[in-house]
Amino acid sequence: MKIGIGNDHGAYTLKREIVALLESLGHTVIDFGVGDVTESDYPVAGKAVARAVASGECERGIVLCGTGIGISLAANKVRGIRCAVCNEPYSAQMSRLHNDANMLALGARVVGSELAKMIVRVWLETEFEGGRHARRVAQIMAIEDDAP
Ligand code: RB5
Repeated sequence: MKIGIGNDHGAYTLKREIVALLESLGHTVIDFGVGDVTESDYPVAGKAVARAVASGECERGIVLCGTGIGISLAANKVRGIRCAVCNEPYSAQMSRLHNDANMLALGARVVGSELAKMIVRVWLETEFEGGRHARRVAQIMAIEDDAP
């Protein structure tokens, strides 16, 4: 898969480990994140990855900040994005099975690197169940067209 990744300063170290994991699994990674621990603003990276996923440039996106919260909030402002903060594997699995999440957010100050790698593996390996969940996901996405 072609996977976009993005991070702020708080997640630079974990980002590097996740990139190494993804490449070892044979994925192509496009890095939209910062390349060191100099303070940076997570919305910038969240938006960049989200736009790459929404446009089809990347099939999936993984974003990381201190908690995973801020960068997921930014990503979810981009039309077409369903970004789930998952700091344990059960939520990661369910975000794919039931929510067809196209982006995963991780909190580098919440999870250790081994747990983060487990979360990423589960999230990438799990397919959307469809069926009744497709109806609900469609309802979520229809909110984007609601006025105002
Ligand atoms: C940066 O200090 C921190 O606020 C950020 O990484 C993230 O946790 C925000 O949600």
